[in-house]
Amino acid sequence: MLQIKSEQDIALMREPNAIVRDCLKFVGDRIHAGMTTKEVDALVYDFIKASGAEPSCLGYCGYPASACVSVNEVVVHGIPDDRVICEGDIVSVDLCAYKNGFHGDGARTFCVGEVSPEKRKLVRVTEECFFRGIEGLKAGAPLYDIGYRVQKHAEANGFSVIRAYTGHGIGREMHEDPSVPNYGKRGTGMRLPAGAVICIEPMIAAGTWRVRVAEDGWTAVTTDGRPAAHYENTVVIREDGVEILTL
Ligand code: MF3
Ligand code: CO
Repeated sequence: MLQIKSEQDIALMREPNAIVRDCLKFVGDRIHAGMTTKEVDALVYDFIKASGAEPSCLGYCGYPASACVSVNEVVVHGIPDDRVICEGDIVSVDLCAYKNGFHGDGARTFCVGEVSPEKRKLVRVTEECFFRGIEGLKAGAPLYDIGYRVQKHAEANGFSVIRAYTGHGIGREMHEDPSVPNYGKRGTGMRLPAGAVICIEPMIAAGTWRVRVAEDGWTAVTTDGRPAAHYENTVVIREDGVEILTL
């Protein structure tokens, strides 16, 4: 069941979401070749703690870190480890913060140094997919219009939409109803009410949309080994549009 948030709830959600926004910026300013994904996770943990929040991902269903750090062919849920980030890599950082009884959630994909034109385009188009997704979005809009627009933009650029993972509602729980796919049929799905808070998170691949989950039970990689990118914001549905809490 979708939980509609009151204005008071939304006011409380601003802080964890601002922490997510600022943490993503903080990480983006510091990520560099030679760093391990574990070191990226440490930046996230320290930033969230110093902000007086809790890293929601840590311990979630046994997840062992504060951030998902997904390099190149890793689509999402990359567990931070000793993998060294290299010049030319694209690195998706996905993180959640919990404060005031609510969660915030966001992701960005960073280009490290000089990146190939294909990867650069993939990162740009993935971000554009989010903004296409929210185009015209307001109370009463059909849920699957979001995915319809995301998919249209991704495929028009020769890329594919990851099917196995979706966006989601968010609030007192990190994952609430509804599921928000990045593909879909226009005009279908529930009508989104004002006060719904959802995470819209296009995950776009350069090649196939098929993924395989590694032995660790988390790390999702493209089956063709080609790169994928991820971009996510937490968004409030309003009568007249959307309010983005993580920008
Ligand atoms: N932040 C992710 C999302 O967008 C959740 C990561 S799964 C976790 O839904 F286990 F790492 F928390
Ligand atoms: Co999310």
